[in-house]
Order: sequence, then structure tokens, then C-alpha cells
Amino acid sequence: GGDLVVLGIETSCDDTAAAVVRSNGEILSQVISSQADLLVKYGGVAPKMAEEAHSQVIDQVVQDALDKAHLTEKDLSAVAVTIGPGLSLCLRVGVQKARRVAGAFDLPIVGIHHMEAHALVARLVERDLQFPFMALLISGGHNLLILARDVGQYIQLGTTIDDAIGEAYDKIAKWLGLDMRRSGGPAIEELAREGNAESVSFSVPMKHHKDCNFSYAGLKTQVRLAIESRKIDAKILISSASNEDRASRADIAASFQRVAVLHLEERCERAIEWALKMEPSIKYLVVSGGVASNQYVRSRLDMVVKKNGLQLICPPPSLCTDNGVMVAWTGIEHFRMGRYDPPPPPQEPEEFV
Ligand code: KG4
Ligand code: ZN
Repeated sequence: GGDLVVLGIETSCDDTAAAVVRSNGEILSQVISSQADLLVKYGGVAPKMAEEAHSQVIDQVVQDALDKAHLTEKDLSAVAVTIGPGLSLCLRVGVQKARRVAGAFDLPIVGIHHMEAHALVARLVERDLQFPFMALLISGGHNLLILARDVGQYIQLGTTIDDAIGEAYDKIAKWLGLDMRRSGGPAIEELAREGNAESVSFSVPMKHHKDCNFSYAGLKTQVRLAIESRKIDAKILISSASNEDRASRADIAASFQRVAVLHLEERCERAIEWALKMEPSIKYLVVSGGVASNQYVRSRLDMVVKKNGLQLICPPPSLCTDNGVMVAWTGIEHFRMGRYDPPPPPQEPEEFV
């Protein structure tokens, strides 16, 4: 019980993140080091490069998180770290760091599932969010619809049968010649504002599957064919495209986004119906994960959720994309329930970690 202060470490993909959070929900610090320059150079996440980049900055990121919180390791109650899913080489950097800190300062470790952290951070944001609730988790690697009954008790209502929506945003951004110094999602969202969302008619995935699963591979192919037929050349960056070329790319971005989100809307509507049959007391649908920072996604889902008698909870964008706060907070949720590992030995042999 009592007041807890937890350090959270997240290295599952391309960002190295750490944060310190208090059990009353206070965020004491939050630090993120991104690998944007590497993403441009390699056109995506290359695991070996990403591992090296994490290794180079992990000590500094954790130190900064402690400094900004005006704390030292001695003030911590536990260390929480993402243990999966993600790139194993990258995850290892975070886990090793967590074990070094925990070993040296005799702290318990809480291993965190990345997607659970995306969902539970909503309980930090909205302190009266009680179980059971629903969550739509939309990121670069996952599309999940779940019913959360308690910490650690989740019923999966739907998942992707191929690609996640964030992966589609990223690929299409690349094909449209968008600036890859940031991830594809925000770039498409911005370009889509200039376009006509009705100009290209893509079909909504899985119309005839009366379930809550997702598919984005087919839509990705539809978009690629539209890009090819309009002779859009990804090697010509959007910044140097003619006005006409730019408008054509914007139309594709807007049309893709409309249908990609329609797919989310349809699945959420059905999932709400299913979930309310199992748990009539549900009041909230949480939407989290990187793609949930998209304003169009938020406003469309808000309508669907309200129409079906629920309320939408969407963390601020900085807590939707990968971050250390969600890991620290989920660590607190688990720690409170006695779910943690004892401190590792102070000096582990290297091959052990
Ligand atoms: O949760 P996240 O940061 O990392 C993973 O767990 O994958 O999600 C990253 C994904 C990327 O595909 C990125 O393009 C997408 O979230 N994303 C967005 C937006 N911001 C990030 N997609 C659409 N619109 C956005 N504004
Ligand atoms: Zn994520």
C-alpha cells in the first residue's frame, strides 16, 4: 500500500523512453529520445541499428528522468519495464537497464506488456475509470479490441488478421513521398486535411465478416494501386511536387484515412454491442496507441461511442504514442496487486541479463 514512486522504461520499438510516476497519478518526469534520423536513413526500423541507438542513450534517458523528478534511485519503490511484445533486441536494452538499476538499489521489478500499458494509462488520465471497460488499441504493430475486466483480465474481442492500421499509415506515407523525419501517421493526417476524402473510392475492409477483427493489407494494396495509376512518384518528395501532384496525393491520403477509420468505426460499433451483452455496466471505450493521437480518428470514434451510449476516453497524444509513463503507471497497477519480481542480485554476470 502507501505512496509508490515507480520508474518506467520503454524500448520496444524505435523510441527510448523513461518516466517517473507516483501512485496518486502525478507524472514526475517524462523523457523520450527518438531515432528519427535513423528512420529516414533506413526507411523504417532496422532492429540492429535500433538496438545500438537504444544502448547509446538508455543511461542518459533514465538519468534525465530521475533528475527531472528531482529524485535518485533510492527514492524509487520499483522499476517497471516493457518485456514485450516488440523487437527482442530492443526490449533487451530496456530490460538489462531495469535489472542493473533494480539490482544496484534493491528494487522489485515489474515486467510490463506493452499493449496493456497503452490501455491502462487511461486510468491515470481519467482517475474514475473503473473496470470493466472497453479498449481499442491502435498502433504500428497491433490492432486490438478488448474488454478489460480487471488488471490482468482481458477478453479479446478482435485483432488484426494481417497489418495494423499504423503500419498502413506508415507505408502509405512512404509511397506518397511524405517527410519521413517523423512517423507516417501525423504526415498523412496533415496532408489529408488538404484533400477530398470522397475523391477515390476505396472499399471498407471485411464488410461481410460479422466479427470484430481488422484487416488493413487489402486497403493498403488498393491505395498502392491508386498511387500507381496516378503516376505518383515517391522519389519526388511532397515538398517538391507540383500543385496538381500535391492535390492528387492529398486526395489519396484523405480517401485512405476516411476508409481506414470507417473500418475502426464499424468494428467498434459491433464490439460495443458484444461487450454490453457480457458486461451491461460498461460506460467507457478507451482509445489508445499511436494512431489514437490522430484528431480525425478521435472525433469519428467519439461520435460512434456517444451514439451507442458510452463515453470515449482518449489519453493526450503524448500518452497515446509510446512513452515511459504508461509503463510506470502499469507497473503501479501491478505492484499494488502484488505482481512483481524480487530484486535481482546486485551484480549479475553479463550473460545472465
Ligand atoms: O503506439 P506507437 O507509438 O508504437 C507502437 O506500439 O507501434 O504507435 C506508432 C504508430 C505508427 O504507425 C505511427 O504512424 C502511428 O502510430 N501514428 C499515427 C499518428 N501518430 C502516430 N497514425 C495516424 N495519425 C497520427 N496522428
Ligand atoms: Zn505502442
